[in-house]
Amino acid sequence: TSNATMSRFKVLIANPSVPRIAHELLSKTCDVVTSSAYDRASIVKDLEAANGVDALFWATHNPVDKELLDAAGSKLKVLSTMSAGYNHIDTKELKARGIKLSNTPNVLNNAVADVAVLLAMAASRRFTEGRQHIEHGTWINYFDTQWMLGQDITGSTIGIIGLGGIGQAIAKRLKGFDVGKILYTGHREKPEGKAIGAEFVNLDSLIKNSDFIVLAAPLTNATHHMCNSDFFGKMKKTGILINISRGALVDHQALIKALKEGQIFAAGLDVMEPEPLNTDSELLKLPNVVLTPHIGSATNNTRNAMAELTAQNILRALSGQEMLTPVKI
Ligand code: DGY
Repeated sequence: TSNATMSRFKVLIANPSVPRIAHELLSKTCDVVTSSAYDRASIVKDLEAANGVDALFWATHNPVDKELLDAAGSKLKVLSTMSAGYNHIDTKELKARGIKLSNTPNVLNNAVADVAVLLAMAASRRFTEGRQHIEHGTWINYFDTQWMLGQDITGSTIGIIGLGGIGQAIAKRLKGFDVGKILYTGHREKPEGKAIGAEFVNLDSLIKNSDFIVLAAPLTNATHHMCNSDFFGKMKKTGILINISRGALVDHQALIKALKEGQIFAAGLDVMEPEPLNTDSELLKLPNVVLTPHIGSATNNTRNAMAELTAQNILRALSGQEMLTPVKI
């Protein structure tokens, strides 16, 4: 039976905190080993102890490179990452070895889009600075009509860089705030853009015209440090940068300078460079920055859905079926 065939497959879940659902699904038909720790050295050790695996359930931002794949052994058929992003994975090396790759798009769109909205609201209404005033006793104790004025989302122009599933979920939410206009840029114009009522523009025009710029594009060579001093120089002085993608889309030295010099109004970042952020980072001292620690997809339901999808992809790949969310490499 197919079950008997499947039982020969060995899977390493390379993260001890992966939701139970993944273990339940995989262990029905596979031998499942879970790594004891998150760090690369432990994972390599576990792979070597397992004497090679057929599938690797990846759920950290540790890089998957030649050395790691060597440790996984020549039986490896599929690598499934419990993340939407796969910039940490050497896809060329996977391709050369004939190893399939899957990720977890879509199931996290709403959770990540919620955090983008949270950051947009918090950054535009000076959340960090307001909190600091309360803490430091500098809360002005009379009604100064000009104190702590923020930027409106209502009527504003939103510029989304990368109108994928997450970008679309962000647009959908912000429409509920009666924004004036939604612009987007990316590789190409998308039919989904038209459906949402978003206008496809070039990057330059998006930077210059947006009140809020939301980074929702994957990290690639083309997007690495795309937000540099040149970028910030073109933004409106009242402009706000939101990043829920990957920290490395932003040159953080340039961002800090732009925030300090009032070249832009504020930034809201769920992702930064490096992660974890150094505790002495200037970003933590700036009043016009709102930070969350890469929690975009961190809800119970979303993490369970991500774990389930990752496990389903592995089971499908091992049984020769098309994966639900393959990455074309
Ligand atoms: C993702 O899904 O890419 C998140 O950043 C978690 O890794």
